[in-house]
Amino acid sequence: MERGLGFLLSLSFFVSAAVSLELYKDPRQNVEARIRDLLPRMTLAEKIGQMTQIDRKVADYSVMKDYHIGTLLSGGGSVPEGNTIPAWLDMIDEFQSGALSTRLQIPMVYGIDAVHGHNTVYGATIFPHNVGLGCTRDPNLVQRIGAATALEVRATGIQYVFAPCIATCRDPRWGRCYESYSESTDVVRSMTDIIYGLQGEPANKTAGVPFVANSGKVAACAKHFVGDGGTVDGINENNTVIDYEGLVKIHMAPYFDAIAKGVSTVMISFSSWNGVKMHANKFLVTEILKNHLQFQGIVISDWYGIDKITVPKHANYTFSILTGINAGIDVVMIPYDFTPFISELTRLVNERYISMERIDDAVTRILRVKFAMGIFEQPYPDRSYSKYLGYPTHRALAREAVRKSLVLLKNGKDGSQPLLPLSKSASKIIVAGSHANDIGFQCGGWTIKWQGRNGSITTGTTILEGVKHTVSPSTEVIYERDPQPGFAKAKGAEYAIVVVGESPYAESFGDNQDLTIPLEGIPTIQNVCGDVKCLVILISGRPLVVEPYLPLMDAFVAAWLPGSEGAAVADVIFGDYDFQGTLSRTWFKRVDQLPMNIGDPSYDPLFPFGFGLRMTTSLLSSDDFELALDDGDGVKQQSLSKRIFERISGNSQQLLLYDEQDSL
Ligand code: BGC
Ligand code: BGC
Repeated sequence: MERGLGFLLSLSFFVSAAVSLELYKDPRQNVEARIRDLLPRMTLAEKIGQMTQIDRKVADYSVMKDYHIGTLLSGGGSVPEGNTIPAWLDMIDEFQSGALSTRLQIPMVYGIDAVHGHNTVYGATIFPHNVGLGCTRDPNLVQRIGAATALEVRATGIQYVFAPCIATCRDPRWGRCYESYSESTDVVRSMTDIIYGLQGEPANKTAGVPFVANSGKVAACAKHFVGDGGTVDGINENNTVIDYEGLVKIHMAPYFDAIAKGVSTVMISFSSWNGVKMHANKFLVTEILKNHLQFQGIVISDWYGIDKITVPKHANYTFSILTGINAGIDVVMIPYDFTPFISELTRLVNERYISMERIDDAVTRILRVKFAMGIFEQPYPDRSYSKYLGYPTHRALAREAVRKSLVLLKNGKDGSQPLLPLSKSASKIIVAGSHANDIGFQCGGWTIKWQGRNGSITTGTTILEGVKHTVSPSTEVIYERDPQPGFAKAKGAEYAIVVVGESPYAESFGDNQDLTIPLEGIPTIQNVCGDVKCLVILISGRPLVVEPYLPLMDAFVAAWLPGSEGAAVADVIFGDYDFQGTLSRTWFKRVDQLPMNIGDPSYDPLFPFGFGLRMTTSLLSSDDFELALDDGDGVKQQSLSKRIFERISGNSQQLLLYDEQDSL
């Protein structure tokens, strides 16, 4: 009896020692050794589970457990009841405990579209959308935004973001143009520094190896590979018609940087390249991205991305799975009905239509990212991060970003009488327009809801609030959302600030062939600017048709989609800071010119790429001249020579004259 017990005890000691010896669980082992240990232990069902990504709406503890689900996501606006930090943390805990209740205890990873801050969560800091950040030309600022976003995302227990979008948007008619930093590949490339902010900066740079620093960081996703910003007529998910060299130079180059910076995942584009769907494109996904560029992280599909290989979508799911997986996709964003995927992929592997080698490549990459993230060691949310949601220093950073992204396009009707900086001590001023006092409009799409929404959708400050806060206490601020003709005259104000623009949209809902200012924006400009000196501020995801109305305006500012810190606009228009932004996009005159980008043979913009006025007229530093000289392709040179001129002249009408003289 005694002997029996002793035997049992030593047996159980032996068993637990054996468990703690599992190499893949030992953080002192290197990542590749851990993968080599874990992969052969996995069944096909466990491997396919890792390749399956589902939306939170269809997930719970038992789904995680029973199907070995590897990753989850929130589709746009998919939030737990209440959208509070505890609700997020509890939800993540539940999913994680389901994942950890499996035989091999492989933790799950949760992903979300944090594309301008942690934008789905109420109370998060909302940064300007990428089009505005491109105007800052400030990669360090964007890196700091990445770091702040990572902390806010971790505040809710989430470890993975579907950002950055590194599309080079070549046509503003595209509904996702605001998700792109610029029409210039060089600008997009420099902004990939956001990856260092999100994931951390690897000390030993081994290009192609995914890197995530620690629990205050998140895995990032460069999207959408490749050519998403080059589709015909700017139609979302359309065909990108371009030769291979053009594809590489314009659209693929930012992926070189993202991969070199250690990006963990790459999302495939819904679009096609010369008629072939990217989700089915084995040449670009496997031969180029994985083999040639040596990307060793995860290739993830887009939402129903493999279903959309056929038209109509999901017409032949077997074909979709076969083609998508064989093209090289590692994780499939299902997103809801996951059992047909699992059973069909299982059958295709068992019947050898898809090789075990391909499955092992996918799972190797998934495990590589998971080990790199350190989630085997720290699978559960660290609740001490909750304080970072909407953190004051992040709001200050967003305010800095807004200030730097504003682009001054006109200041003064005749050049000699600039309207800006506005007087803080006027006795009476008008603030008018649909966008003057509306956080939802300022934030645009991908904010709280997938499509965004107008109104007080989250916390922050509006432009009107900023104005009221900045002017002297004795200044009377008259706010009128929809001023009628004669309104401004009747009020006898010194000047007016008119804020108009687009209403929020995301993805295909934003495709637009007209690009006119919607929502009574034009009558508002006409009703106010005819009667009083006026500054027009445009809130939009892209340049819109403004040429016909420009003569009415005394000053014109592009504010893009500034996000939650609208008060920053007042910091600049009243002169506490100067304008610094330069256009990340060409401002066209008419839509029939589109697409029109810097470097095109017939380039006849209203405002060229790189344009942006300053209020002060300080002379240039020698650095600027050196920069202007060291650029071979002339693009920077052109934009810098414009800037040199702007700083001296401070006036756009003169710039037009300058252009004419220049071309003589
Ligand atoms: C978008 C992606 C996004 C995904 C998840 C897709 O429709 O194209 O950019 O990451 O949804 O929300
Ligand atoms: C978006 C998702 C969103 C869904 C709504 C998709 O295209 O990318 O994020 O939740 O549509 O139907």
